[in-house]
Formats: sequence, structure tokens, C-alpha cells
Amino acid sequence: MTEQIDLAAGAPQVRREVTSFVRRSTRMRPPQLRTWERLRHVYVLEVPHRASSTSIAPGHPLDPAAAFGRDAPLIVEIGSGAGESLVAMAAARPESNVLAFEVYVPGIARTLGRLHDERVGTVRLVQADAVDGLTHLLGPASLAEVWTFFPDPWPKARHHKRRLVDAAFADLVASRLLAGGSWRLATDWADYAEQIRTVLDDHPDLENLGTAEDGWAERCADRPLTRFERRGLEAGRTVRDLHYRRR
Ligand SMILES: C[S@@+](CC[C@H](N)C(=O)[O-])C[C@H]1O[C@@H](n2cnc3c(N)ncnc32)[C@H](O)[C@@H]1O
Repeated sequence: MTEQIDLAAGAPQVRREVTSFVRRSTRMRPPQLRTWERLRHVYVLEVPHRASSTSIAPGHPLDPAAAFGRDAPLIVEIGSGAGESLVAMAAARPESNVLAFEVYVPGIARTLGRLHDERVGTVRLVQADAVDGLTHLLGPASLAEVWTFFPDPWPKARHHKRRLVDAAFADLVASRLLAGGSWRLATDWADYAEQIRTVLDDHPDLENLGTAEDGWAERCADRPLTRFERRGLEAGRTVRDLHYRRR
């Protein structure tokens, strides 16, 4: 059996309100753990937590210039997974700082390896719930762009309350975007795509920039095909891109 090491062993189990993720194993194989240990200090920002390890304590806003070592337009990715889109899209935008929120440590470890291999130095990650991150780390009207690609679909009706993009989350993202800033999303789950369209089309501060059929957006030109998108296509699902602008 492959040796695995559990970073969360001994960590307190905390009861939380409904989140868009569930606690998953933090087990990593030794090479992945070595990548995590070697590179986390370069790319992963330490933030103060509340009770759970994926929460963020209020009262400690991020200083982006200090975190990135420069002033630059700030892009946020929510749920960066293994970093497939994050690393490619950040590499294509060297003039921007990109901050990613991801709760899954093995995914972050894979992202760190990619960042190192591709020599991308303009990305920082926070291992925490993006809702807390947007709420407590980032100020109003601070973001040039937000990316939410293939948020967990929670397909069963009884789990829909876990879906990340709802009216409250749209309010939060809209409040963090600069006027003229944009929010790009993609999903391969038809009813989630419709739900997002309804919520964001109705939002008074957001304008739908979709120019494809029926108000959907053209595929974001440099968004790579990720494992999640490939899986959706193989299952016969249609991928929808969405693109909104903060008024
Ligand atoms: C289906 S994956 C998609 C990953 C990536 N965007 C891609 O397209 O390959 C969704 C990711 O979002 C993360 N996630 C879900 N809710 C989150 C939250 N509230 N804050 C941060 N990450 C979250 C999950 O851990 C998971 O890695």
C-alpha cells in the first residue's frame, strides 16, 4: 500500500454552519507532502482562523501589496482545485496579482507544484472558505476580476443549499468587485447554470456581458480544459460560461 501522511490528524473536529464543501481527507503521498512543505511558505498565505481550520477570523484584512510584494490589479479565484485554470490564466496575466481560495490541501499542493514548474510568481493561495475570505480579508471594491469555474454542483435536491453561488454570495462578490470589474463563471450542470443566471441576471449591481446564444457567455478564451470540465463533457453535459460586470 502507498504510504500516506495525514496533516489533519489530531486537528479538532468543529461543527460548522452549511458550507459549499465538506471536510475531505488531507492525506498526501510523500512526494506531494514534500512539495507542500517546500513551497507552502512561498505561495500560501497564513491567515488567522476561528474555530475551524477553513474559517477566517475577522479583523485581519489582507494587505495585497505586502502579500504579493507589489501593487497590481487583484483577481480572485474561488475553488481553484488542483490549479489547472489558476496557473495557466495567471501566467497569461503577468500584470495582475491572483489570489486563490481553496479548502482542499492536496489540491493546493498540486497547485504549488504547477506554480513552481511554470515559474509563475504572481499567485498566492489561502486555504480557507472563500466566503470568509471575501468577507474578512478583502475590502469593498477591491477586485478587478473574480473567477468561479466548476463550483461543486451538489446535484441532489436536498444538497442544493450547499451550492456556493446563491443570492447572498452574489451580493458578497458584487460588493468586492470594483466598478467595471468582472465575474467569470463556468459550470457543466444545467440546473445550476440556470440558477446562477437567474440570480446574477436579477442582481441590481451586475450586468450580463454574455454575447453567445440566449445570454450565455462565449467560452473564456484562455480557460484550459480541466479534469472537471472533461468529465462533464464525457458525461454528455453542456458547459456554460457566464460573464458579468459590476455596474
Ligand atoms: C469541482 S472543483 C473545481 C476546481 C477548479 N475550479 C477546476 O475547474 O478544476 C470545486 C472546488 O471548489 C472548492 N471549494 C468549494 N467550496 C469552496 C469554498 N467555499 N471556498 C474555497 N474553495 C471551495 C472545492 O474544494 C473544490 O476543489
